[in-house]
Amino acid sequence: MFLVIGATGTVGRETVNLLLESGHDVAAVTRDPTAAALPADAHIVAGDPSEPHTLTSMPDGVEAVLLSPRAAGSASSELLSQAAARGARRVVVLSAATVQHPVGHPRFIEEFKRVEAAARESGLSWTFLRCADFAANALAWAPQIRATGVVRGAHGGAATSPIHHRDLAEVAVAALTDPAHAGRSHLLTGPQSITQYEKVRLIGEAVDRTLTFQELAPEQVRRAMLAQGLPEDVPDRLLGSLADYADSPGPTTNTVERLLGRPALTFATWAADNSVAFTARTGTAAPALGGEGRA
Ligand SMILES: NC(=O)c1ccc[n+]([C@@H]2O[C@H](COP(=O)([O-])OP(=O)(O)OC[C@H]3O[C@@H](n4cnc5c(N)ncnc54)[C@H](OP(=O)(O)O)[C@@H]3O)[C@@H](O)[C@H]2O)c1
Repeated sequence: MFLVIGATGTVGRETVNLLLESGHDVAAVTRDPTAAALPADAHIVAGDPSEPHTLTSMPDGVEAVLLSPRAAGSASSELLSQAAARGARRVVVLSAATVQHPVGHPRFIEEFKRVEAAARESGLSWTFLRCADFAANALAWAPQIRATGVVRGAHGGAATSPIHHRDLAEVAVAALTDPAHAGRSHLLTGPQSITQYEKVRLIGEAVDRTLTFQELAPEQVRRAMLAQGLPEDVPDRLLGSLADYADSPGPTTNTVERLLGRPALTFATWAADNSVAFTARTGTAAPALGGEGRA
């Protein structure tokens, strides 16, 4: 039995599906089982992972845990103790490349370091998946692309090697099921360093439209995000890391290929897989701007 914390997230959902397809039992945690749309053959654990005492239906016989830092946050230690009491021996943390290649404000990196520390101190065998930015963050651009074909944002020249969540889920399954990954930190990126301009162009190729990135001043982006009601952390996190990636591109590794025995999936593949999200629908209002999702 594998316990997935963050089961309705980009990576968690794909990992649940892959585990079930391989014949494993899965316990999937969600705060809202009615909205979760998780597979019928997953054991649903209702509750809030950031308040572990709410996870009253966590089953016995848990072998390993996939842990989302965003979902568990400062409750990670307590959550891992609870999982260990149900039998867990291993934890795989969906951490961030910024732990190893710092960018942006240190407080956002500390969030991941604290969860890694909780895993190290849990007594479980641990594996850290230090992920580059998810290709799926570009879904934040979908409303503007559908409505106008123009993505408005800052630091268009910021370059990273975005990773397809399918690759992360396959590595997560390998780390959950194979104890050989114990004690290892995997720095996981996509295969190519690309700028935001290039991402927009590649989404355009996937939907057969010419799309453009319109450069705005970072302060303009910040003000617009706050005006949309987003908390200050969102522009702080986004703009801080983009500014650094504009100066110096994020890392590119061959870890996915080494671990999976096949090349990492490209951003173009991700865009083709998700082209429907960027296809025009009638009556969609254009937001003031859009940025990438959070790390
Ligand atoms: N996006 C990136 O570029 C990036 C890069 C590196 C690392 N990461 C990390 O990778 C992990 C996985 O990200 P993801 O996008 O797949 O999904 P996620 O952010 O982990 O969300 C997964 C699920 O966790 C629950 N959740 C979210 N916030 C929560 C909170 N504050 N308290 C309790 N539950 C919460 C929600 O499920 P329910 O509503 O069903 O309860 C959500 O659908 C995250 O920890 C993220 O920080 C992301």
